[in-house]
Amino acid sequence: MIIRLKDVSYCWPGQQQPTLNIPLLEVKKGEHLFLHGPSGTGKTTLLNLLTGINKPQSGQVEILGSDIAQLSESKRDRFRADHLGVIFQQFNLLPYLSVLDNVLLSCDFSKSRRQQAENPIKSATQLLLDMEISGELLHSKISNLSMGQQQRVAVARALIGNPEIIIADEPTSALDTDNRDRFMDLLFSEADKFDSTLVFVSHDTQIQKRFDRVVSLAAINQAKNHINNPANKAQP
Ligand SMILES: Nc1ncnc2c1ncn2[C@@H]1O[C@H](COP(=O)(O)OP(=O)(O)OP(=O)(O)O)[C@@H](O)[C@H]1O
Ligand SMILES: [Mg+2]
Repeated sequence: MIIRLKDVSYCWPGQQQPTLNIPLLEVKKGEHLFLHGPSGTGKTTLLNLLTGINKPQSGQVEILGSDIAQLSESKRDRFRADHLGVIFQQFNLLPYLSVLDNVLLSCDFSKSRRQQAENPIKSATQLLLDMEISGELLHSKISNLSMGQQQRVAVARALIGNPEIIIADEPTSALDTDNRDRFMDLLFSEADKFDSTLVFVSHDTQIQKRFDRVVSLAAINQAKNHINNPANKAQP
């Protein structure tokens, strides 16, 4: 198993009840997992645990055999940079840097990603070209790009240097159908080339058939007191 969550509970500061209570979630190496669920039920919260951005109050989050919650903050940052390609729901690109520099950041933070990319500038340029971003745009500041263009830059940044695990939070929400399909083709071909594991959150049911496994968050999450959990709606 490349990802293994065991008895994980997570409660946001200031909240009375946990958002997540997950007895078990396992993902195999190379597996492509599609995770879905209504808005506000904890999908991004779960991804934040997988990337070590947040730590569970209890339980284990094992990624590539390491319990990342046990790592120091600096080791966790290094672990994330080396092994995880993350496409955030809000992209998290640096607005004052160029398109190219945003993609190259992944290699700046990780020697192993830099080595895997071999020639980072060439690799970044190719990934961006695959996403139909080229020429002048490479040197534009991120803040000058449309949402859909920024999303495609975020994708290139996650894929460069072929990390073992790709975590994507609604990465196609700002894309039109053509760009979405091009993005999915690129994502799967890059993931398959390096046997990368993929955890993909989306509402887009049209793309779920491309995945090995489809999981509803409600099916694995036993947090019962969440306001958005249909099981907790007030009875008439
Ligand atoms: N930064 C935060 N601080 C406190 N509580 C938060 C924070 N982020 C999320 N939450 C709580 O966790 C719950 C789950 O939020 P989360 O963002 O994980 O949902 P989601 O399933 O990703 O929703 P969406 O589909 O809209 O992106 C929210 O209802 C909110 O109560
Ligand atoms: Mg979310």
